[in-house]
Amino acid sequence: MGVAREPLKTITTVGEMQAAADAWRRAGRTIGLVPTMGFFHEGHLTLMRQARQRADIVVVSLFVNPTQFAANEDLSRYPRDFERDRAMAESVGVDVIFFPDAKEMYPAGYQTTVAAPELSQPLCGKTRPTHFAGVATVCCKLFNIVKPHFAVFGEKDYQQLLVVTRMAADLNLDLEIVPGPTVREPDGLAMSSRNVYLSPPERAQAVWLSRSLQVAADLLAEGETCRDRIVGTVWETIRVRPLARIDYVELRRLPDLAPADEEPHGKHLLALAVYFGPTRLIDNTVLSFPE
Ligand code: PAJ
Repeated sequence: MGVAREPLKTITTVGEMQAAADAWRRAGRTIGLVPTMGFFHEGHLTLMRQARQRADIVVVSLFVNPTQFAANEDLSRYPRDFERDRAMAESVGVDVIFFPDAKEMYPAGYQTTVAAPELSQPLCGKTRPTHFAGVATVCCKLFNIVKPHFAVFGEKDYQQLLVVTRMAADLNLDLEIVPGPTVREPDGLAMSSRNVYLSPPERAQAVWLSRSLQVAADLLAEGETCRDRIVGTVWETIRVRPLARIDYVELRRLPDLAPADEEPHGKHLLALAVYFGPTRLIDNTVLSFPE
């Protein structure tokens, strides 16, 4: 017979969260963390279910982290709906939502940051030069607050997953970073809280992001291994959609994100970012070239 689980609890202060984590650890319980900025969709819920499978206690942090947004980005209009998020988290068996405000996370006098500069520079780092330092810093803080044994991060944000994994290894943080698969809409569009910004015609054209990545995977499967032909095909597949404006399409070596050779070998990340109006969408796929 299973032990009845307590109803979902919301914790808003660092002190209370750390005290709860200490008590769970003393009782020998495994803590899994899913860091989020809320406005949940099936991608978030899949990571929560993944954490639920292997942790005694699942904590979801919900914090729209101001330090990872640049001044011209969508911090103020980032979609928020706490009650809806709460109900969705409860439905997949989350134990605690850690829901601090910005003053709790960054009180007056706050000044410390951590960064993984080499992994943070290419791809999304070109248009968002301060973004990954903000992500690495808030994740480091969340790890010290929630004290998880593992934290789950989606492959949808693959560069973020690499940055956080590097940061945790470099700083000897005592937790495991667990990747979770990208969850997609039925037509292939990667789920994102930002998809709600898309107009119906933009939404219709956004399907070409994942389709173009599929075209690239098919090319490789047919024996095409030339970097420029693969990247060029993805670029052209998206460029002809009138509402899409390409930020980047790039092939980078894994796990260090070094530029790909003309004839790559081994695992590479094919990643893209595309604007529809002011909305910037990202997607990626891992390609395994012949060794
Ligand atoms: P957010 O965009 O809310 O995403 C939270 C987690 O959900 C991240 O690990 C992200 O990769 C994952 N995710 C988003 N869309 C997904 C999808 N379609 N399939 C699978 N996983 C998906 O990423 C952040 O928040 C923040 O940068 C954060 C890590 C919380 C730091 O502030």
